[in-house]
Amino acid sequence: MRDNGGMSTPPSTPNPATAPDPAPAPAPSDLTIGPYAVRPPVVLAPMAGITNAPFRTLCREFSGGKGLFVSEMITTRALVERNEKTMQLIHFDASETPRSIQLYGVDPVTVGKAVRMIVEEDLADHIDLNFGCPVPKVTRKGGGSALPYKRNLLRSILREAVAGAGDLPVTIKMRKGIDDDHLTYLDAGRIAVEEGVSAVALHGRTTAQHYGGTADWDAIARLKEHVPEIPVLGNGDIWSADDALRMVRETGCDGVVVGRGCLGRPWLFADLVASFEGRDDFLRPTLREVADVMVRHATLLGEWIGDEARGVIDFRKHVAWYLKGFAVGSEMRKRLAITSSLETLRAGLDELDLDQPWPTGADGPRGRTSGNNRVALPDGWLKDPYECAGVGEDAELDTSGG
Ligand SMILES: Cc1cc2nc3c(=O)[nH]c(=O)nc-3n(C[C@H](O)[C@H](O)[C@H](O)COP(=O)(O)O)c2cc1C
Repeated sequence: MRDNGGMSTPPSTPNPATAPDPAPAPAPSDLTIGPYAVRPPVVLAPMAGITNAPFRTLCREFSGGKGLFVSEMITTRALVERNEKTMQLIHFDASETPRSIQLYGVDPVTVGKAVRMIVEEDLADHIDLNFGCPVPKVTRKGGGSALPYKRNLLRSILREAVAGAGDLPVTIKMRKGIDDDHLTYLDAGRIAVEEGVSAVALHGRTTAQHYGGTADWDAIARLKEHVPEIPVLGNGDIWSADDALRMVRETGCDGVVVGRGCLGRPWLFADLVASFEGRDDFLRPTLREVADVMVRHATLLGEWIGDEARGVIDFRKHVAWYLKGFAVGSEMRKRLAITSSLETLRAGLDELDLDQPWPTGADGPRGRTSGNNRVALPDGWLKDPYECAGVGEDAELDTSGG
């Protein structure tokens, strides 16, 4: 699977006896989040519907356990109400450490309750708060990435979260702001420092940009200068291990958060670790190796859900990402994307020309890439950056994302 030879899945860390001599490592950037050292400083971005326990397991296996892997987002209200689906999402594999959970909430009291519940019931070791959702249904109510515009509300949420978290580190993940005329990230970073947040992650886009255009890495550099007291994690448009190193070099950020680059590419984590450790023996799987990872992913999903068919159905959304760049006809792609058993998935994959090597040019954008210029906000939202009567709890949607 590596450039310099084959490798079967499930993956393992390279054999030190055969690994090439390490090149000089890039500038060390030690990342600590509360008591946790994250080495190398690579973080799997929370992605709703994607970064569940099975996907985190795959990425972790490829990284040799290195890095930090954040859960799917969970809304604070659903958590305190012990919503059944939400309780299933807070599932960590026994080997996951630290257990990293992302929460999204708009009400300081509910956020505080949710955080205390996590501590009292020992549900996680690290709490990340999501302030990046650009979905109009959410921002229209003042939630998601619209929320940091209201500095006092943001401060209250962070204060409650940090107070409730006790020894658990609290981090935040945000966008640059609502649009270029209403940037919030520097103020939000400062508020985070003042309220005792352990690290901030910045997705270098505004709400208005959604996932379109390119992420503004200069903003990450500016945030790093603005809040030297805490680690700054850069996020946006890391599609390869080289991109990750480049982001660290160009912005001075303390670590990277990688989202869409891992869709259909959980082995990117092996490359990320390699590059931060000064190696360039990147994985270039053949279609046969990709097919094995696909079946394993679908199997893990079935085991996690407790139902093979539902696992394979949940896996359908990943099929096109895994096959991107390989010569697979559209009929077969469609067939693979409607399978509902491991047997038919495997049988379909076995019909492919599995000896195909890794296709050149298969890296690059996957998943959401569209832009959006209109931001839906509550009436009068932009009039006062401080005062806010509160945000309706209906701004908490469990599908909101970031
Ligand atoms: C399918 C999908 C779901 C997402 N869900 C979340 C989420 O639940 N919480 C969050 O903070 N960001 C979420 N995001 C945003 C990513 O974490 C990340 O900030 C964004 O994709 C930009 O990084 P990238 O260019 O590495 O993908 C989501 C993104 C995608 C594509």
